[in-house]
Amino acid sequence: MSKNKELVLETKDLEISFGGLQAVKDLNIKIYEKELVGLIGPNGAGKTTVFNLITGVYKATGGSIYLCGESMLNKLTHERVGKGITRTFQNIRLFKNLTVLENVKVACNINMKYSMLTGILRLPKYWKEEKEIEIKALEILKVFGLDTYAEYQACNLPYGKQRKLEIARALASNPKLILLDEPAAGMNPTETQELMDTISIIRDKFNVTILLIEHDMKLVMGICERIYVLNYGQLIASGTPKEVAHNEKVVTAYLGTGEI
Ligand SMILES: Nc1ncnc2c1ncn2[C@@H]1O[C@H](COP(=O)(O)OP(=O)(O)O)[C@@H](O)[C@H]1O
Ligand SMILES: [Mg+2]
Repeated sequence: MSKNKELVLETKDLEISFGGLQAVKDLNIKIYEKELVGLIGPNGAGKTTVFNLITGVYKATGGSIYLCGESMLNKLTHERVGKGITRTFQNIRLFKNLTVLENVKVACNINMKYSMLTGILRLPKYWKEEKEIEIKALEILKVFGLDTYAEYQACNLPYGKQRKLEIARALASNPKLILLDEPAAGMNPTETQELMDTISIIRDKFNVTILLIEHDMKLVMGICERIYVLNYGQLIASGTPKEVAHNEKVVTAYLGTGEI
């Protein structure tokens, strides 16, 4: 893969066991800047666990994780967010009682520069930054066609739009790397296709690197440049969508699941 591009995410022999179950084993992946990479595999393969390891929700029982060459292993989840790793969840996690705009603004606030005192005293710098945050949040919402819903309560959005809002919120913290966990789960085919197109667009517009989990292989084939395939916690293949789709181990792993 492009040698002159910056390596954004690297895992080396990453592993985790839950009691007797080795959920992820010897995981070696490399993702370069602005790549859109898929992580696929049948249900229970360990995909979400990989995200939990990268974000620090789970502590690895072995191996290492680097973001732009810096070790993340001993960093807490919020420290990793600060370094530029953000994610969405397989099950939607929004602030349901906040508005659509507020949901994105909260995430923008992670990067605010004014001091707590400036915030408490509502000094001019506070209002200036708050205004900038609002402009940025609305800009992000626009990319997702959600700007017209800015004042809706998040819980009142249709399901497909809530899923988009989750990604919008993830973008708001200026991430280097976004991890999307089955972003199209529960969407109808039209919504799914539209979402996949949007994911390609945001990669270009926001200069981010994206790792996308999906268990439906066909879905990621169209937009990912490279794909890693996980089965029983281990990588069984990696390469272009075409290479992966013709890989015997991959076909066998998906056989009988009806998911290919
Ligand atoms: N906190 C946990 N405790 C015990 N087992 C877990 C835990 N998290 C995940 N697992 C197990 O790890 C395996 C992989 O799960 P997961 O990463 O959710 O799969 P996927 O996202 O590919 O469907 C499953 O067997 C699951 O039951
Ligand atoms: Mg999962």
